[in-house]
Amino acid sequence: MAALVSDLGDSTAALLLKGYTWLPDRLRRGGAGPVRTRLLGRPAVALHGPEAVGFFYDERNVRRRDALPGPVLDTLFGRGAVHTLDGEAHRVRKALFVERLTDAEAVSALVERVREEWRRAFEARGGTVVLFDEAALVLARAVSAWAGIALSEAWTRRLARDAVAMVDGFATPGPRHLRARVARLRQQRRIERLVNRRRSHGDGPGPAPTVLSAVTWHRDADGRLLDARTAAVELLNVVRPTVAIAWFVTFAAHALHRWPEHRDRLADEPAYALAFAHEVRRFYPFAPFLGGLAARDTTWQGTPVPEGTMLLLDVYGHNHDPALWPDPYHFHPDRFLGRAPGADEMIPQGGGDAATGHRCPGEDITVAVLKALSAELATLDHTVPDQDLRISLRRIPARPRSGFRMTLGGPGGR
Ligand code: HEM
Repeated sequence: MAALVSDLGDSTAALLLKGYTWLPDRLRRGGAGPVRTRLLGRPAVALHGPEAVGFFYDERNVRRRDALPGPVLDTLFGRGAVHTLDGEAHRVRKALFVERLTDAEAVSALVERVREEWRRAFEARGGTVVLFDEAALVLARAVSAWAGIALSEAWTRRLARDAVAMVDGFATPGPRHLRARVARLRQQRRIERLVNRRRSHGDGPGPAPTVLSAVTWHRDADGRLLDARTAAVELLNVVRPTVAIAWFVTFAAHALHRWPEHRDRLADEPAYALAFAHEVRRFYPFAPFLGGLAARDTTWQGTPVPEGTMLLLDVYGHNHDPALWPDPYHFHPDRFLGRAPGADEMIPQGGGDAATGHRCPGEDITVAVLKALSAELATLDHTVPDQDLRISLRRIPARPRSGFRMTLGGPGGR
């Protein structure tokens, strides 16, 4: 039986202190066997590697109900979100997302809107801007129009800031966390009103529903409409992560600044832009790990895992594992040239199958938007002033400290 290495104390403080490296370090110290620890006062087992991805995404082994702590639900995902469902209830709710978010035409329509908003934002513009903030606003404008929640300019700006705040504050106590809670409540209430207004008109979803009408008229496994708050939660589960692609766009700019040799190929070769987008998702830190609870008494690598044990799937460590990625800390888009990453090979947005499991249904959108905006960045006339571009792995979610300031070339800059 493989050795089981135990932490005696709770590791929550170590996680808050070390951030992305906490779980990979813990696994390294544990050697080859499973690693047991405690998180948020609960016994936990850390899982790593492709076999672990298969284990984690088998719903006989892992359930999501009660797995996510309240502070994460009240900021990042929302109470009653698809992330917290299992079995038939999950499959029926998940179809709501998968149908719209993986439809090739719908994805292209969103990418086109994003590209237009990007060009409008940067065209004939000079001065110094913070790319992270600009990208969030571009994405908020595009996704709110695409999802059917057209907003005033003031509300779009508020949405961009709130969506960023919800992601930025989920994993940390203090003011960032409070901002995230306020942001969620404000946006949930506003979208609840939109849903109620739709319902009072009673016109149904129509033949090609927007995300707003699909959510408004979605029936759960019990045949009932979602209550307005849950409908708002799920609409935000499309809007918020789309705005969060700003993190990857900022990382793409960081990569282009550090390794400018990628610029020409990125601008000229669509296949290279796709490979570049995958490498940004693999190389840079975003989701540190994923959590679930053991759905039954089971075993992992010969070690008993009692029902209810927290199971932590190492995401950051997986995407930098030298056994899977030769030279993992080398930014090397060519590793994805001409081949898409395998389903459980790279897991920045989860593993398994998006239609049946909890894998992110927004992966097509993320890759397509990141591909398009990486190519836009490569041709944007700008310089990068001196600034603090360090990315602290202690901060979840990580990003370049300055947000990536760039000085635009001005009129005719594109
Ligand atoms: C789930 C990452 C973009 C919608 C997830 C999960 C991760 C993830 C790690 C959890 C998988 C699991 O629990 O097993 C990301 C990252 C993104 C991104 C890093 C880039 C910014 C998107 C986009 C959308 C989206 C653009 C929608 C347009 C969702 C939804 C779920 C999810 C609805 C819940 C799925 C479920 O529980 O069945 N994402 N995501 N995400 N994501 Fe994304």
